[in-house]
Amino acid sequence: MKQKMSYKSITPSIGAEVSGLDCSNVDTNNQIKLQQLLVSQKVLVFRDQMISPLEFLDFMKIFGTPYAEDLQPQDGNPAEVGVIKIKPNERQIINFWHMDYSFLEKPAAVLSLYAEKIPPCGGDTLFTNLEAAYDGLEDTVKNDIDSLWANHKLGVETQNAKNRWSREELEKMDADPPIKHPLVCLNPDNNKKYLFVNVPIFCGSIVGMENEEGDKLLSSLYHHAQRPEFSFRLTWSKDTIVVWENTHCLHYPVSDYFPHERKMLRVALQGERKPSNGF
Ligand SMILES: [Fe+2]
Repeated sequence: MKQKMSYKSITPSIGAEVSGLDCSNVDTNNQIKLQQLLVSQKVLVFRDQMISPLEFLDFMKIFGTPYAEDLQPQDGNPAEVGVIKIKPNERQIINFWHMDYSFLEKPAAVLSLYAEKIPPCGGDTLFTNLEAAYDGLEDTVKNDIDSLWANHKLGVETQNAKNRWSREELEKMDADPPIKHPLVCLNPDNNKKYLFVNVPIFCGSIVGMENEEGDKLLSSLYHHAQRPEFSFRLTWSKDTIVVWENTHCLHYPVSDYFPHERKMLRVALQGERKPSNGF
């Protein structure tokens, strides 16, 4: 039977709640609409989806190619379906604005979560649109940063380590150098520029800039991207699927539900291209 899919924007900048769709059975016409909607809205929310892990994986193939998860699969699920399981009396430690995998040449393009078990309240996730964040900068700032590049590397310190890398630390990284990405990238899907910034533990410095100056600039851009005008706060319900463009967003999983349990399934899609400024 033909499904009558519709959607409602969550804020003018980001997010859409999609309704009238069974994610286990999406026809070709709606698949194309969803691909386009993800580009324009950045985050898609699907409520009340009683689907199996395998159906979740199949659904995500609409948006790209899933890869074997680095989160441990469980319950006999395929390698592409990872599990984020916070047990009772365990505290979630990822509690800050970030993008996943910016320290790779081709970071995961799209991420998705399926809520299997949620706490009675709390555990919301915030998302912000890095295209809207770039758009919201003063023209003088855009001019200053358009041709800069930043160093990205998997950090070993905790989120509370405020400082980005010192010059000495960077020099020590010679054997395993950071990945360089443009600070301002161009999204070829819609021709929009976006800020490619991340939390200090992943995005350590500006290429060729003194540490103090680069730290100040990165810090101001990272905080600018978090403004409410560019973001929204998602409250989960059981059986909710959320799909987002990882490299065009930052997300913030709020760790406020201790001592409750939470279990999410995750499917990540391969990054097909290196973030580029189009030059
Ligand atoms: Fe994350």
